[in-house]
Amino acid sequence: MKILFASSEAVPYAASGGLADVVGTLPKAIGSKGHDCAVVIPLYKSIKQELRDEMNLITTITVDVSWRKQYCGIYKAEYSGVTYFFIDNEYYFKRDGLYGFYDDCERFVFFDRAVLEMLKYIDFKPDIISCNDWQTALIPVYYNIYYKYQQGYCGIKTVFTIHNIEYQGKYGKEILDEVMGIPMYNAGLLEYDGSINMMKGAIETADIVTTVSPGYAWEILDPWYAHGLDRILVTKQYKLKGILNGIDTDFYNPENDPEIAGNFSSSDISGKAECKAALIKELALDDTDEPIIGIVTRFVKHKGIDLIRYAFEDIIAMGMKFVILGSGEKIYEDFFCEMAARYPGKVSVDLGFIPELARRIYAGSDMFLMPSQSEPCGLAQMISMRYGTAPIVRETGGLRDTVRDNGGINGNGYTFKTYNADDMLDAVKRAKRDYENKDVWSSLVKRALECNNSWSASADIYIETFNELLSAKD
Ligand code: GLC
Repeated sequence: MKILFASSEAVPYAASGGLADVVGTLPKAIGSKGHDCAVVIPLYKSIKQELRDEMNLITTITVDVSWRKQYCGIYKAEYSGVTYFFIDNEYYFKRDGLYGFYDDCERFVFFDRAVLEMLKYIDFKPDIISCNDWQTALIPVYYNIYYKYQQGYCGIKTVFTIHNIEYQGKYGKEILDEVMGIPMYNAGLLEYDGSINMMKGAIETADIVTTVSPGYAWEILDPWYAHGLDRILVTKQYKLKGILNGIDTDFYNPENDPEIAGNFSSSDISGKAECKAALIKELALDDTDEPIIGIVTRFVKHKGIDLIRYAFEDIIAMGMKFVILGSGEKIYEDFFCEMAARYPGKVSVDLGFIPELARRIYAGSDMFLMPSQSEPCGLAQMISMRYGTAPIVRETGGLRDTVRDNGGINGNGYTFKTYNADDMLDAVKRAKRDYENKDVWSSLVKRALECNNSWSASADIYIETFNELLSAKD
């Protein structure tokens, strides 16, 4: 089977969030099970020169963006056994940053048309096109309107995966003809609540809609989580499926990670103490045995930062330390910086995204706090467990699907239900109490280390799902 993953980002080329990790690692996992995978992303300005040096130009073509005819270069490279294609157009993609421009809609209309046009010129004929988030949501729409019956395109199945339902690609109706080049008689595919909604178009037209955890798949049928898309999802529930993300366990491996001070595994966890000692030294924290809570995240509301803010000083008063890495909304950045100034030796804050420091935090912390308001899957809690650090999470989406509270059997972390800072504080207190009993704690650390969140099982589910699609009659 041949699968083409279309995405607006993929590691190692371009990344702003978890989507890049998934699109950069899932194809390799499916590929290792005997299928042919390729990925296509825009050729952004920020892609490093050493990666560009590996690319070859296949051809240049012209792509329609409504009445416009736009240049499109198609490049190709191999990375880690997976073929990558790149869509080049400097007017659209030679900019600082990946998104956030006034013409994002037009940029991804171009990209989506280019992905479909590209198939005529490359030696990779996909059976499945996997589309990810709103930026690639028009691929199934265009496929259905313009390509389905064209020679060389028949029988392709499209899959749309929701990584985050908050960003839908919503625009005014004028965009339909002027930018998308979609005739009025097809407007119904994209219209929703008075706007043109790209994600809604994909939910209508893709052969199957997946999301990145089973828990999130049923949560988004509920208005509290769905950002308005619950009605369409309820009607399309027959084709909605949740498949849990995995992580690259070769890359995140405490047994041989060169970035961390001591290596360790579930059979010998002594290296973890070395990692903690090194983290204390590196970040100039007080050299005491108090538990360290790690936080590595984007500082945005849905990550539950308001709960952390509310309970922060209570947690410090309990005798715990914080190591924080991330960036995002200024109000949160200012808060964390103020806390670092107020509690030197107890709070360390680094603004930005520093992947090596992230791994030292995962390995050197005792607990990892992730009280998200909503979480489609979440990768950080899985990475923290991979490094024997107990996640403290709210029971939502992928967090609920991966973390079991240590109050029960075989717990690998701590959970709380309601989006409420006092409930979170209670989970932190329970974690601290267990931490003080060395036997209880080391068995928890070992259980966390033994969790298997590699891609293997989920890759099997994707393969099975794709096979079912291909054998289904139209
Ligand atoms: C988004 C979601 C996150 C998920 C990631 C990869 O960033 O917010 O929960 O893990 O996509 O699917």
